[in-house]
Amino acid sequence: MSKHSEIRNQFIGFFRERGHTHVPSAPLVPQNDPTLLFTNAGMNQFKDVFLEQGSRSYSRAVNSQKCIRVSGKHNDLELVGPSPSHHTFFEMLGNWSFGDYYKTEAILWAWELVTGVWGIDPNRLYATVFAGDDEVPRDEEALEAWTEQTGISADRISFHGRKDNFWEMGEVGPCGPCSEIHIDLGAEFCRRKDEPGHRCAVNGDCGRMVELWNLVFIQYRRDAEGILHPLPRRHVDTGAGLERILMVMEGVRSNFETSLFTPLIAQLVELSGEPYHSDARGIPHRVAADHIRALAFALADGVLPSNEGRGYVLRRVLRRAARYGREIGLETPFLHRLVEPLVEVMGNDWHELKERYD
Ligand code: ALA
Repeated sequence: MSKHSEIRNQFIGFFRERGHTHVPSAPLVPQNDPTLLFTNAGMNQFKDVFLEQGSRSYSRAVNSQKCIRVSGKHNDLELVGPSPSHHTFFEMLGNWSFGDYYKTEAILWAWELVTGVWGIDPNRLYATVFAGDDEVPRDEEALEAWTEQTGISADRISFHGRKDNFWEMGEVGPCGPCSEIHIDLGAEFCRRKDEPGHRCAVNGDCGRMVELWNLVFIQYRRDAEGILHPLPRRHVDTGAGLERILMVMEGVRSNFETSLFTPLIAQLVELSGEPYHSDARGIPHRVAADHIRALAFALADGVLPSNEGRGYVLRRVLRRAARYGREIGLETPFLHRLVEPLVEVMGNDWHELKERYD
């Protein structure tokens, strides 16, 4: 079994053992949500439950959700290429509690899975907690859960503000404070190590620390006037990037060096004759390998490049991939040549890729 399938299965199995229902990934085109062009998080399909406008027959859920982040509040497009760990399309492993368990279990289980099942050394991990502001108080409950449930030392917990530790799916909708697990990739990953006085930090910008898993404690709704309202029940919404977990588990330096991406990069090297490098020379390869995933999965879910709305966003992704391709000499259409290796790598887990291959 491929490593990414194994990680996905371990995540889903772990939470099924803890009473979660495995729910299929929602399509990339949000159903009944005019506030979103593309599904940008695992929780999108449960928005109605958080807002008490709908219900499910289960109170705990788990899945791996197809996400695209190229528009609206969560847009990573410009990071793709320079960054070793950002994507337009990625898989978000998530578990949810709908008014059921809360911070204690969410934090304990995330820690158990990361350090126990996946065996990641706790000495490489950091936790973050919402620091509080004039709208929402500091998250003492999460702090207590980290301290008491995981045994992580106090110097590995840090407090951060709204930008990093308060999650909202869009301008309006369900939201709440969050706690994250970050991993220290090692001093050699720091891009600013030659700058005098630089100190690597969680949520810093030097590349050494990478967020692995976000645990959101949904307890508010933001309305169109920007006002927060407490929700009647409190919920858990988590998201871990499968591609980043894979990078750590395979012991490689970037998501693009994992087994999910190497067949795509190899095909690009073959087509262009340009070798792949992990530095800036590899930006065109990374952009094309990333964008073909977004394009193929969006096409498989029925979105076509066009002049407006989500079709136009897709068209921009297509053009960006083509433009970077020209930087490595790919002057004629080449993106379709990446679909075969993509289907080879991911088609067994995502049947729509095989079914819509033509
Ligand atoms: N919904 C949260 C996120 O996308 C888990 O980070």
